[in-house]
Amino acid sequence: MGTKGRVAVGSDHAAVEAKDKVARRLRELGWEVIDYTVVVDGKADYPKAGRKVALAVANGDCCKGVLLCGTGLGMSYVANRIGGVRAALCLNSEYAALSREHNDANILVMPGRATICEPHEKILRVWLDTPFSGDERHLRRIRMIDEPDAE
Ligand code: RB5
Repeated sequence: MGTKGRVAVGSDHAAVEAKDKVARRLRELGWEVIDYTVVVDGKADYPKAGRKVALAVANGDCCKGVLLCGTGLGMSYVANRIGGVRAALCLNSEYAALSREHNDANILVMPGRATICEPHEKILRVWLDTPFSGDERHLRRIRMIDEPDAE
């Protein structure tokens, strides 16, 4: 049976448990999950998995990505350095919806520390289920991210 598509996931050591739950949920929802997390001696530096996930999305190997670290901040910095990536750090479902509707975010970033944000599953579902609005004004601004002179 086919899947909905391939999702790249990754975390650092601070968010392995949360990432495993997210990966499990994604599989239950019918997505193929590629996990780029590599833990060595109990540590997984966020730039490593963050860059791999961002590259997998940028080069089209995966259609979306989900990244988690303690705060979500480190993963956002790393992922947004890769051209074509729009990684959105979402603490609640309103951010998740707006990051899709307005910014066509292709990577969802969440804090592994669950106390900082709404339940991961809630944010994930809203992010997956919200389409990009396709509005010309949002498209124009998204083009300007990678091409600052584009109008
Ligand atoms: C790891 O201790 C922590 O720095 C990391 O998970 C993340 O919050 C970085 O932005």
